[in-house]
Formats: sequence, C-alpha cells, structure tokens
Amino acid sequence: MKVDLSTSWMGIPLPHPIVPGASPMSLDLDAARRLEDAGAPLLIMHSLFEEQVVGEELATRVAYDLHAESYAEATSYLPDPDLFSLGPDEYLEQLGKLKRALNIPIIASLNGVTQGGWLDYAMLLEQAGADGIELNVYDVVMNPDRDGRSVEREVIELVQALTIRTDVPIAVKLSPFYSSLPWFARQLAQAGAAGLVLFNRFFEPEIDPENLELQRHLAPSSHGELALRLRWTGILRDRVPCGLAITGGVRNGRDLVKSIMAGADTVQVVSVLLGQGPDRITSMLMEMAEWMEEQEYPSLRVMRGCMSIERCPKPAAYSRANYVKMITGWDAGLFRS
Ligand SMILES: Cc1cc2nc3c(=O)[nH]c(=O)nc-3n(C[C@H](O)[C@H](O)[C@H](O)COP(=O)(O)O)c2cc1C
Repeated sequence: MKVDLSTSWMGIPLPHPIVPGASPMSLDLDAARRLEDAGAPLLIMHSLFEEQVVGEELATRVAYDLHAESYAEATSYLPDPDLFSLGPDEYLEQLGKLKRALNIPIIASLNGVTQGGWLDYAMLLEQAGADGIELNVYDVVMNPDRDGRSVEREVIELVQALTIRTDVPIAVKLSPFYSSLPWFARQLAQAGAAGLVLFNRFFEPEIDPENLELQRHLAPSSHGELALRLRWTGILRDRVPCGLAITGGVRNGRDLVKSIMAGADTVQVVSVLLGQGPDRITSMLMEMAEWMEEQEYPSLRVMRGCMSIERCPKPAAYSRANYVKMITGWDAGLFRS
C-alpha cells in the first residue's frame, strides 16, 4: 500500500487503525491467532465483569439501587454466574496464553461501574502482561434518587482509581447518554484516560406481548449505528486531550474513512469479523487505502479529523442548527416508499 496508514492507540504505535474490539474472539487462541495473521495490530479481550469478581458486593448495591424488599429479589436482577465463560482466574490465565501465543499488544477489558476490590484485578492484569486496560462502564441507571452528576463522578473516580492501581494506559468505553459529553469526556482525559471508545451498544430487551416476557437478543450491529459515533467523534476530536476510537456500525472501507475523517485514531470492529471472518480486516484496509490513493490522501494523519467540528466546512451540521433545518425543511416525498 502506498499510503501511510500508521496511527497509535493508548500510546502504542500501530501500523493501521482496524482493531478487533472486545468479543468472544479472544476466548479462543486459534481465533486470536487468525486475527493476528489477518493483520490485527492489537487485540482487545472480552470483558472481565465486576459481577464475576464481586457478586455479593454488587447484590448489595442493586438492592440499594432498586429499593428491593428482599435480597433474593435484588439478586434476581444479577446475571447468572454460569453465563460467564471464564472466571477471574481463568481470565488471567487466558491473558497469559494470548500474550505467549501472539506478538501483538493485548488490551484487557474490565467491565463494571462501582469502586471496589474488583478493581485490584487491574494490577493482576498488568502483571499478567496486559499492554493496557479498556474500562467499560456500561450502566443502566434506574434509581431516580441518583443524579447525573453523581453518575459521572463515579466513572471519573473509577478512572482515577485505575490509574493509581496500574502503570498501563487506560481507555474508557462509554455510552452516549451523558448530559454534557464534552465536559465529561474532558474530565475523563484529565483523570488519566489515554483514550475514549465511542460507544457501547445498548442491547435493549424486547417485549414478547403474548408471553409477557422480556426477551434478550444480540444482533450484529447495523450501519445506521455509525452516524451517532461520527457526530460525537467530530465534536470531541479537538476538544478533548486524549485518543478517540469508534466502535459500532463500521462495516467497510468507506466507514473507516468516515471514522478517521471525524477524528478517530482507531476503529474497533466486531460484528463484521464475527460474520465474515478475520480476513475482512485486510479487505477493509485495502478498500480504505485504495480510496485514499484515488483521493490523494498520503496518510491517515493528514485525513484524521478533517471533518471534525473545528475543521469541517459547515460545522452547524453537528449542532442543533442541523436539527432545526431538517425539521423545518421536511418534504413529504422523502417519506413515501
Ligand atoms: C458477541 C459479542 C460480544 C461482545 N462482548 C463484549 C465484551 O465482553 N466487552 C465489551 O466491552 N464489548 C463487547 N462487545 C461489544 C463490541 O466490543 C463492540 O463494541 C460492538 O459490537 C460494536 O462494534 P460492531 O458494530 O463492530 O459490532 C461484544 C459484542 C458482541 C457482538
């Protein structure tokens, strides 16, 4: 490839920006080797969940959060421990095996929302060879007594606690649902986050109306999920002093180009690799590189952020002005199928 696709993530130099995101692919050494063979420059492990490490502590918190009448009721909201494929010790073991089997950096993933002893696992992950830690703070706040500021403060304190416990870089995988994402993102960077990963996918339960049940289903992401990530990456790029990664809805080389133009340093992909196999890394890279050559972009560095809010030609399209224009300019023809 004639174009320079090099980038970096969490201070680690990478030959290109396509990173396999957290997923079961890291559970299987052969699958992980195939990713490396296909050109993955770094691997993010599936998560070690807070619930795995401190079920009891969490139960107390859930009981408090939900004002539950009984412990039994509260714990019924917890995931079934049998759901986790690896316990904490096996997770460390798997990290060690990945480190020995692969030559690329391995990022461990901690997934949880409260401060507590489970965070000590960060030290163990570092000792087991993790090159960085991705903290996933997927939370569904259901308690009307918790205000937004306290939810944000807890995450900031989690990041501070992690940076105190380890010397490896920390990235934070976020949801988009914060009232002032730019403020929050900057606080996280100031607390020590080397990178922010935008965004968690929220797997919403479906209602089965006949059986009166909530149903879970995990579908691959769709292309439509990317627009939200592009917008916020474009807004945060020049306003937050840390790296940015996009995860969610990236399916082809053109999506990669858009992500980099918005300002992403790396792009994490999962659905497309699970569905089409590891070689999709190579073909997506080729698609992006060919497009860049045609358009005469010599490097990723030159292209990165060229469509951020600070640098794009019509920044109002990122803001409320866009919404007003869209609503007032509505045309019935657009909605006829
Ligand atoms: C089967 C599956 C397992 C996943 N496991 C994790 C996980 O353990 N930790 C995590 O942070 N994200 C996990 N994710 C989310 C992915 O890392 C990624 O952010 C999301 O799927 C969006 O990327 P995509 O559109 O390329 O699929 C998982 C996704 C899938 C589909």
